[in-house]
Amino acid sequence: MNCDGDPMRHSEQVAMIERLLALRETRRDEKMLDEVVTIPVSKYTDEALLEREIASAFSHYPLIAGHASALGEPGAYLTSDWDQFPYVVVRGEDGRVRAFYNQCRHRGARLADQPTGVVQNFICPFHGWVYGLDGALKGITRAHDFPGVKTCDYGLVELPATESGGLIWIGRTPGETLDIPGFLGTFHDDLVNFDVASLVRYKKTKVVKEANWKLLIKTYLEGYHVPYLHRDTLAFAFKKGVIAHDEEGPHIRLSAARTNIVETALKPQEEWRILDYASVYYTLFPNTFFILHPDYVSINTFWPLAANRTIWTHEMLYRDGDFAGSAGQSALAKRFEFTNDTVFDQEDFAIAEDVQRHLPHGGSDHHVLGLAEGLLAMFQQNIDERLTDPDTDTPTTPRVSGRHS
Ligand code: FES
Ligand SMILES: [Fe+2]
Repeated sequence: MNCDGDPMRHSEQVAMIERLLALRETRRDEKMLDEVVTIPVSKYTDEALLEREIASAFSHYPLIAGHASALGEPGAYLTSDWDQFPYVVVRGEDGRVRAFYNQCRHRGARLADQPTGVVQNFICPFHGWVYGLDGALKGITRAHDFPGVKTCDYGLVELPATESGGLIWIGRTPGETLDIPGFLGTFHDDLVNFDVASLVRYKKTKVVKEANWKLLIKTYLEGYHVPYLHRDTLAFAFKKGVIAHDEEGPHIRLSAARTNIVETALKPQEEWRILDYASVYYTLFPNTFFILHPDYVSINTFWPLAANRTIWTHEMLYRDGDFAGSAGQSALAKRFEFTNDTVFDQEDFAIAEDVQRHLPHGGSDHHVLGLAEGLLAMFQQNIDERLTDPDTDTPTTPRVSGRHS
């Protein structure tokens, strides 16, 4: 861990704070767009488009299964939050993380049925077949009824999985290798420098929201709404906030200055720490929104069920020792309740659901994005560019200019 417990090296933190201070002078977010752009509302309602997104963004890129602390010991496992991709990830006796389809090779029953747990073996609830932590079929019950069936032919089907930057990553195509540092570029350094691996899980929640998965993620991608939608909650902290952004491949990092960034003037640069004056957010392609706050980390993932329905999971992590004792734990409970229940659920996602509900019945066939909402267009473009159906792949989102590339 770097000595600051901050996501970036100190020189980068100073540079970022200076970027934010300069933006504050002009009272403008960093330039994201050269012109206003529009997004067709069909992006949020078209089931055929969703199928194409699932076949591309959700099929050919590493996905985040959760924080590595869920797999702290051999036999510890975690299961998928998304029925479309039923996996189980488990730490083996050798310490390695492996993933398998969470499906018995006999007649397909689900082997692990809890979000997380610890087992010595996976024992199928249907007819009792037993699999080891390495996926090998160790035993067939009433084996005399299966003449000619060799256990070595019926091990669990393995999926790509790895542990990197403190997170568990999984891929959908058996046989593929996952290169997470290559995938995340310098943002992987941020996860390492912040020592995400050493955090501990406070809680993970999973709920279904009645909105398109992209509409939900986009609620995080601009600060324009904060003084209005969050007028009673976040507005004060970000009153004079400005946003700087960076891109790494299809991933976006946004740093939002807090009102107190002016207090940097009272401290020597050596003592500047980015998280004292800003929150740092990442969209990790395709479906994760990762948040670094001074005292906790949020991993939000979005798993589409339909064009207008999405599973939202929120895993909150903290640094052991930061919230010690019962007073600390009740402070943490309050932080979770504020962030999860009030800000995300009752403000951001409630308005996204409201927008979604009326999309098919509205008077406009597109949304219009101002210059400070450019990250929404970038995110949309990152998805669109990776759709894999060349026959029907006509870009409907205008090219986004002014991007860092
Ligand atoms: S389905 Fe698993 S043992 Fe029959
Ligand atoms: Fe918000």
